Order: sequence, then structure tokens, then C-alpha cells
Amino acid sequence: MMTALIKPTLFVVMVFAVISFGVSSPVSARDGAKAVKEARSLPQVRGGIVFKSYCTLCHGEIGDGIARASKLYGPEMLIIGRMDSEGYESIVRKGGVGVGRSEYMPPWEGELTEEQISDVVAYLTTLGDGVARGEVVYKTNCVLCHGVNADGKGRVSVLYDPKPSNLTRSNKNTQYKMMIVTDGGELLGRSAVMPPWGLQLSEREIKDVVSYIDTLVISADDLRE
Ligand code: HEC
Ligand code: HEC
Repeated sequence: MMTALIKPTLFVVMVFAVISFGVSSPVSARDGAKAVKEARSLPQVRGGIVFKSYCTLCHGEIGDGIARASKLYGPEMLIIGRMDSEGYESIVRKGGVGVGRSEYMPPWEGELTEEQISDVVAYLTTLGDGVARGEVVYKTNCVLCHGVNADGKGRVSVLYDPKPSNLTRSNKNTQYKMMIVTDGGELLGRSAVMPPWGLQLSEREIKDVVSYIDTLVISADDLRE
């Protein structure tokens, strides 16, 4: 049943690939510089870096108010709830005072560039969603090796043997991924090229990035013809 459905589609895709890329290489060997630049300059990816530098101190890593400053202001006050982008933008620009709220939320207009403001607002919209946050972590830290599409074809992948894994075909469970991302490949008897992220990334960021890559897995059932 499936075979009948899939074969003609595959054929069309291949013909299309041959027409658009030439017979020799229907699929590119690795990411181009442009694809990497695009992935890393998504507003929410850049905004994640702004948030980390200027906002986590008060709002906590995921905007839940669990932060160093929460003793001063009380965590409830520091929770970033859901608003539309305009709502976020006006309190970020004008600060608490500018929108009739607490003076402890500073105004950022002037201090951050226009680009940083729109980027951080884009990032705020991902805060409540672990997978979306994980995509930001992935695009900031993992694309050069594992690739923009997580297919193992990152810009530097050619340098390594074994190659960075194709994460869309991973047969490892969530727990294993948490371990290899935290402790690195070497500790698990795999390539030392897979770095340990436990010192650079928080446990929350590692959970998020693993949630994200878990969503990318194409299961064997999906692939079976
Ligand atoms: C010095 C601590 C502090 C820093 C740093 C800070 N904020 Fe705030 N922020 C607050 C406080 C306090 C409130 C609560 C204001 C109120 O409700 O009266 C708040 C409220 C907010 C709200 C409204 C949340 C809601 O659901 O009502 C947003 C959005 C926000 N901040 C974004 C940011 C962003 C983005 C940054 C970094 C660029 C940032 N804040 C940095 C203290 C801070
Ligand atoms: C410097 C290159 C490099 C970077 C950066 C890198 N990895 Fe890896 N990763 C590898 C290599 C190489 C392997 C394969 C190890 C092996 O097969 O022995 C690997 C393997 C993995 C695996 C195991 C997959 C499986 O199915 O077995 C996971 C999960 C993984 N990486 C996640 C990540 C995440 C998430 C990030 C970003 C936080 C990341 N990696 C960053 C090189 C890298």
C-alpha cells in the first residue's frame, strides 16, 4: 500500500533534484555559509543571547522568575507571562514606569539597539515553549557540526571521522541524549569531538535542546516503504 504511494513521489522528487542541481550532486554535501548565517541570525536566536546577557539576572533563564534577583523583588513579580509582541515591546522599551508598572523593570530603549530590542521581543515569544527554546540553543551551539537541518552535514563536518551524527535518524532515547550532550562523546566511548556541554549550558538548556532534537527524529516507521 505505502509502496505504491511513496514510489511515484520519490521519483518526482528525484527528477526535480536532477533538474535543479544537476545530475552529479542532487543533495549538497554540507551546509553552505549562507544557510548557517540564516539559521544563526534568526531574530529569536540573536534575541536569546540578548536575553541571557540583560534579563536572566532578574527574570531567570526561562522567564519564570527563578533568578538571583528574586529575593529582592519576589519571584511572582518577575514571571514573564504571555503577551502579544506589542505588549512586550512597550514594556521593554519604556520600562515598568512607562507602562504604569513597577520602576524595577528598567527601560531598555537607548541602552539596547533597535535590533536588540526587536530580537529580544522575538525571543520572549518562545519563552513558554521548551522546544522553541531548544531550537535557539541548537542554532546557537550545534549547527556547525550537526547542520542546520540536524542531518550531520554541518559546515565543519567534513573535518571529522566519525562524522557528527545525523540527529534526525538517531535511535537513542532522550536519557542517552541528555548524557552525551552533558558529558560529551568520550565519556560514553564515542568520539571526543562531540563536546561536553555541561559547563557551558545549564541543565535547563540541555533539556530544551534535547526536546528540540527529539522532535526532529524521523522514525524508521516513517521511512519504511
Ligand atoms: C533589575 C531587574 C530587571 C531586569 C534586569 C529586567 N527586568 Fe523585566 N521586569 C522586572 C520587574 C520587577 C518586572 C515587573 C514589573 C511589574 O509588574 O510591575 C518586569 C516585567 C517585565 C515584563 C512584563 C512581564 C509580564 O508578564 O507582565 C517583561 C516582558 C519584561 N520585564 C522583559 C524584560 C526583558 C526583555 C529584559 C531584558 C532586556 C528585562 N525585562 C530585564 C525587572 C527586571
Ligand atoms: C565539534 C563538533 C560538534 C558539536 C559542536 C556538537 N556535536 Fe554532537 N556529535 C559530534 C560528533 C562527531 C558525534 C558522533 C560521535 C560518535 O559517533 O562517536 C556527535 C554525536 C551527538 C549525539 C549522539 C547522537 C546519536 O544518535 O548517537 C547527540 C545527541 C549530539 N551529538 C547532540 C549535540 C548537540 C545537542 C549539540 C549542541 C549543543 C552538539 N551535539 C554539538 C560532534 C559535535
